[in-house]
Amino acid sequence: MALIIRIGPAREQWWLDHLQSLLPEIECRRWDEPGDLEEIEYAVVWKPPAGGLKRFPNLKCIVSVGAGIDHVLVDPERPRHVPIIRTTSDDLTQRMREYVCLHVLRHHRRLPEIDEIQNTGEWRQTVNPPAYQRRVGIMGLGNLGADAARTLAVIGFDVAGWSRRPKQIEGVTNFAGDGQFEPFLKRSDILVCLLPLTDATKGILNDRLFSTLPAGACVINAARGGHLVEGDLLVALDDGRIEYATLDVFHEEPLPAGHAFWKHPRVLVTPHVASLIDPVAGGQAIADNLRRFIKGEPVANLVDLDQGY
Ligand code: NAP
Ligand code: GLV
Repeated sequence: MALIIRIGPAREQWWLDHLQSLLPEIECRRWDEPGDLEEIEYAVVWKPPAGGLKRFPNLKCIVSVGAGIDHVLVDPERPRHVPIIRTTSDDLTQRMREYVCLHVLRHHRRLPEIDEIQNTGEWRQTVNPPAYQRRVGIMGLGNLGADAARTLAVIGFDVAGWSRRPKQIEGVTNFAGDGQFEPFLKRSDILVCLLPLTDATKGILNDRLFSTLPAGACVINAARGGHLVEGDLLVALDDGRIEYATLDVFHEEPLPAGHAFWKHPRVLVTPHVASLIDPVAGGQAIADNLRRFIKGEPVANLVDLDQGY
């Protein structure tokens, strides 16, 4: 019984040693030195190269080192019968909570304008509505979205969330399904995307959405670059439909040098750092889940492959 790890060169050895210490009963191997391919039963991966997973004929389970699994599903040759477990932890949720609150508050309290004020040395007091009049909309009310929505409601914002199925979260107005998407958007002055990337959500941050939001809305995308139609956002920023965007994730990562977002005066680029999994907490979550899987016990965050998240 062996486990293969593919995380990216910078931290691969660290993860290998860490997981080996947490799972001494399983031999952990590096992606590029798999040994006998038939012995590999478990794969712990982030962005595995296309065709890589099909090399292991006895694979029983794929673990995504992260909450998203789009980076696994994108491989057309992925063994489709193999279950996928995604990784979450309190630490991941905490980090995303910080990111979302930081950037919602930044827009609410007009920090970009205050930066300009300091640059020009002009004493001009900014005005913002009270938080209870600021309507924040969270797309996706899963582990991350529900927590962010709850926290923003506690801060005092007028918060709504949109999910596939109806949800009850204290202090948060719920909109569910395609039929309630438009009314949800129409009341979102600050829109936060925390959806998984699936066939249904790809390109959802598009021209039509930007036209449905209240004029001058702000958009925060902390989910996946594939949710955003980048050209549509640039047009909506230019014509004023969107006042400001905070983007953590991109179609191409790293975001290429010279990309229009880098120097856009009303775009803040963060380099996919909203909530990076902490190796200690993440490693423990992976080890615990794998043990449960091996014993045939219920596993946390087993992916519904029909829904794609
Ligand atoms: P999750 O627990 O699976 O929650 C997904 C939420 O999206 C659920 O509320 C789900 O609705 C909703 N949803 C899915 N498809 C939908 C649709 N077609 N229409 C409406 N709602 C839909 O996911 P999570 O753990 O919160 O993570 C969300 C995403 O964040 C991940 O997939 C990943 O891409 C991204 N992420 C980014 C970072 C970063 O650093 N930037 C870090 C971690 C994660 P139901 O509740 O009805 O199922
Ligand atoms: C990070 O992007 C994750 O999916 O955990």
